[in-house]
Amino acid sequence: MEVEQQNLNIQTTQNSRLSEIDWENLLFGKIFSDHMFCMEYVNGEWTKQKITPYENISLSPATSAIHYGQSCFEGMKAHRNEKGEVVLFRPYDNAKRFNQSAIRMCMPTIAEDLFVNALKELLKVDHNWVPKNPSHSLYIRPFMFATDPYVGIRPSESYRFMVFTCPVGSYYSEPIPVKIETTYTRAASGGTGYAKAAGNYAAALYPAKLAQDEGYKQLIWTDAKEHKYIEEAGTMNVMFVMDGKLVTPLVSDTILDGITRRSVVDIANDWGMQVECRKVEVAEVINALKNNTLTEAFGAGTAATIAPISSIAFGNDNYMIPPSSQNHFHVKVLNYLNDYKLGRVEDKFNWLVHI
Ligand code: COI
Repeated sequence: MEVEQQNLNIQTTQNSRLSEIDWENLLFGKIFSDHMFCMEYVNGEWTKQKITPYENISLSPATSAIHYGQSCFEGMKAHRNEKGEVVLFRPYDNAKRFNQSAIRMCMPTIAEDLFVNALKELLKVDHNWVPKNPSHSLYIRPFMFATDPYVGIRPSESYRFMVFTCPVGSYYSEPIPVKIETTYTRAASGGTGYAKAAGNYAAALYPAKLAQDEGYKQLIWTDAKEHKYIEEAGTMNVMFVMDGKLVTPLVSDTILDGITRRSVVDIANDWGMQVECRKVEVAEVINALKNNTLTEAFGAGTAATIAPISSIAFGNDNYMIPPSSQNHFHVKVLNYLNDYKLGRVEDKFNWLVHI
């Protein structure tokens, strides 16, 4: 079926894949909903907004994003609340961050309302893809890439913005063993570390693979200059509970300003917990591990949600973190965030946007 709405063309599929999905065994990022959103940036404006069946796209082999990496993205989630309604979690925060990434990558921005409306319209078409299981959600991937077919280094003049969605379960199925990285670097000051630029993730793959070969699931990156301060984990921000205080690296131009991280900090402040967002020295974390004053370590991210860390390796030593228990802050905050998204508690921070 084809519908023309204010500047938006909607073509819906005749062959929905909904009935083929094994809803109890959702593998993260491998199942794609029926439709996708797409628009083109040409002559200085966003045009040709359309929702079409999810399908492969055709591009020139000279498409500049493929060669020079002018590409950025967002990660966000929609949830089905207890009344069966579909809600987005802090979508305007993602829209803002998307534009910050776009500016850094010398790409055009998108009006926040246009960005959020694109998601809303797509979710209206694919609302049945938002899982009913309260521990699952619909992961949303908005992204933009340079489309000029051109060989040479300059910003592209044309771009494509797209959104597709995936019903997902957990990104990490169990607490993760991590290693503090002191050889390779994810981001240097003045670089693109704070942006969700595709290349940041590509550059992190090789060191992460080396760590995975040693049995670690993830790296905790340290600063590029001295490898003295904790930064982030690439797939998520990192947080610690030390001496009963929530401690997390202050976001900077080398650390992604995570929306889950920000939410956890806001909740901790609201609960009257002492929160320290500041530079966190590796030595301080290692000392706290040695004298048992570090009681919790976890990652916070959209895909990862709240991901408990089971052990932290540094040099030749591997330190175990106490297993999660119901009175741990990260367990309480995970439960609260779940309840929040499911509408079981009041939306006191005004974070939810209904579809
Ligand atoms: C997200 O959390 O949304 C990300 O983009 C990180 C990636 C591990 C999926």
